[in-house]
Amino acid sequence: MTPKRKPVVGGNWKMHLTLAEAQELGSEVRNRLNSYAAVQTLVFPPFPFLHAVGQRLQDSAIGLGAQDLHVEKKGAFTGAVSAEMLVSVGCKWVLVGHSERRHVFGDGDDLVANKLRVALAAGLKPVLCIGERLQERQAGDTFAVNRRQLRAALHGLSASDVQDLVVAYEPVWAIGTGLVATPEQAQEVHADVRSAIGELLGIAFATQVRIQYGGSVKPETAAGLFGKADVDGLLVGGASLKAEEFAAIVRARNA
Ligand code: PGA
Repeated sequence: MTPKRKPVVGGNWKMHLTLAEAQELGSEVRNRLNSYAAVQTLVFPPFPFLHAVGQRLQDSAIGLGAQDLHVEKKGAFTGAVSAEMLVSVGCKWVLVGHSERRHVFGDGDDLVANKLRVALAAGLKPVLCIGERLQERQAGDTFAVNRRQLRAALHGLSASDVQDLVVAYEPVWAIGTGLVATPEQAQEVHADVRSAIGELLGIAFATQVRIQYGGSVKPETAAGLFGKADVDGLLVGGASLKAEEFAAIVRARNA
């Protein structure tokens, strides 16, 4: 029997938009996708717009998430945002370990693991992002790198600790470059990621955990990716900034 994993598509708005544009995009995403029950849709606006976008999404099926969090609860951490703050502005989801956090801001495996635990403790549903860099793929280390990132983040956790976890496989060479992985490239890594999750947290959990692909997804490439057995959703950056493109990607699920 094929496991039932509801597809999940997230829009990562990164450091884009003004408040008015973010509100408009939130409303547009809601208008176009609220009734599209085949896919769970999430948006990840920048911190200052979370509350206002959340208001536009109130009582809708669209989930609100943040792009990062800080590990401390409160205190003298200038510029940082805690999990409790995110919950208090209506966030239900949070990205953890996005490649830009890892490679632009220097978040290492240990910090990512800590952020994952802090998110879970606050009741936020994490999207754990992993992915290899181009030189790692070229060196034949793709599976090993993704397995290392997974192991570091999930070490010591049980399946019941991470019930709502979503994993996003985002090859670094595909993010923002226009170089989307082929459906076959995505599938072979997703299958290995699922098997690694099975070794860490048990087969039952691995069978039901959702694994997104991310990296230069466009409306034209979404259906092919969705067509693969272990691709349970997409994490979309650039193309999520236009409601029409984002909606086309979400709706590609049934195309
Ligand atoms: P991209 O970003 O779709 O612009 O490549 C994906 C991501 O970083 O989540």
